Amino acid sequence: MRGPSLAAAAAIDGDRLQDRLARFACIGAIPGNGVNRAAFSAEDIRARELLVGYAVARGWDIACDPIGNLFLRRGGLEPQAPAVLTGSHMDSQPRGGRFDGIYGVLAGVEVLEALDAAGIRTRRPIEVVAWSNEEGGRFAPCTMGSMVHAGARSLDEVLDIRDAQGVRLADALSDTLAATRAAAPAVIHRPFGLAPAAYVEAHIEQGPVLETAGCPIGVVTGIQGMQWFEIEVEGESAHAGTAPLSTRRDALREALSMIAALQQLAADPQDVTRFTVGRLRVSPDSPNSVPGHVLFTVDLRHPDADTLARLGDAVEPTCRAQARHCAVRVRRTLADAPVRFAAHVADTVERSARALGLPSLRLPSGATHDALYMASLCPTGMVFVPCERGISHNEAEHADPADLTAGARVLAATLVELAER
Ligand code: GLV
Ligand code: MN
Ligand code: MN
Repeated sequence: MRGPSLAAAAAIDGDRLQDRLARFACIGAIPGNGVNRAAFSAEDIRARELLVGYAVARGWDIACDPIGNLFLRRGGLEPQAPAVLTGSHMDSQPRGGRFDGIYGVLAGVEVLEALDAAGIRTRRPIEVVAWSNEEGGRFAPCTMGSMVHAGARSLDEVLDIRDAQGVRLADALSDTLAATRAAAPAVIHRPFGLAPAAYVEAHIEQGPVLETAGCPIGVVTGIQGMQWFEIEVEGESAHAGTAPLSTRRDALREALSMIAALQQLAADPQDVTRFTVGRLRVSPDSPNSVPGHVLFTVDLRHPDADTLARLGDAVEPTCRAQARHCAVRVRRTLADAPVRFAAHVADTVERSARALGLPSLRLPSGATHDALYMASLCPTGMVFVPCERGISHNEAEHADPADLTAGARVLAATLVELAER
């Protein structure tokens, strides 16, 4: 491991990182210590303003692409060389924690701060990205910023997506872009698809493996595959007191049979398959009206591509088989195959941890991340740190400050190593 890589790691200021995490946790704070910072919301805009403020203070360049992905750039000795990119997302789940996503962005900013403080010049530029709409809770699907950046879907394909209130993504995005330009008038326009030399994302693990092993650093080997579905059941609303059960077209009754059948489909004695119905919207949503319309979502995940494809292809027929008096429409809104990360990036993360005296272990990611799409553009990897009891997508999400600092140190050494390649 080179001297500058270790010097960068040593210059990480864990207190500054904690202070910034606490500041961001105030933006969209909700009871129970959590945050609600939906993509392209007023809270997301405030987070962007705070973030670009750090770049303005340090004189780093700021770039933004047409879906609002924000890039903070610290130049290199070879300014034209492809940069090494790090970062994550600033949006959250509706009842999210204070680390999911934002830790990776602020750990990246802390690396740039450490390089400035230690006066280290890297060969390649190093950039920090805050990806737009990673969570997908407001505008589905998730990982949208990196997906569009990597060309897996076009911007046009997502602009008409609406949130639960009927707001078009295009409108929320245009407000967000205008606010970003106001906060950083010198923002540089960045096209989609620019391939960095490498991408490394730091994140809390969101599962129990590292904590159980008592290990502060996870070297992530890849991400399991995932499919999302939106299923609409169309029946007919009726009076709860008069409509006989035999003639009702009760959309909820049939949606519940579909969900039960899907749970059977996903049943797995090995407990590897992940199956979640996380959204159920019933209309007209009144105790004495028979539900005339139901929308529910399915989030299906598996590390094996063939198994995931087989299960995903069975979702629509399984729903149709339960539709007796109602119509059903099944839309697959996301289909991500499992991804394996580049060996040399994982090796660099592992060597960095070892050089810093930090135990590490290799593990796959159960959660998805923007790294999944970046892996199609450049050699990619991730650094995980433990989180308490593996709890995430929950206000109670917590991570030990010492582990967060350790993760930022490993990230610093890794980025500097990759920036010299
Ligand atoms: C990310 O938030 C995921 O759903 O895995
Ligand atoms: Mn995340
Ligand atoms: Mn998340």
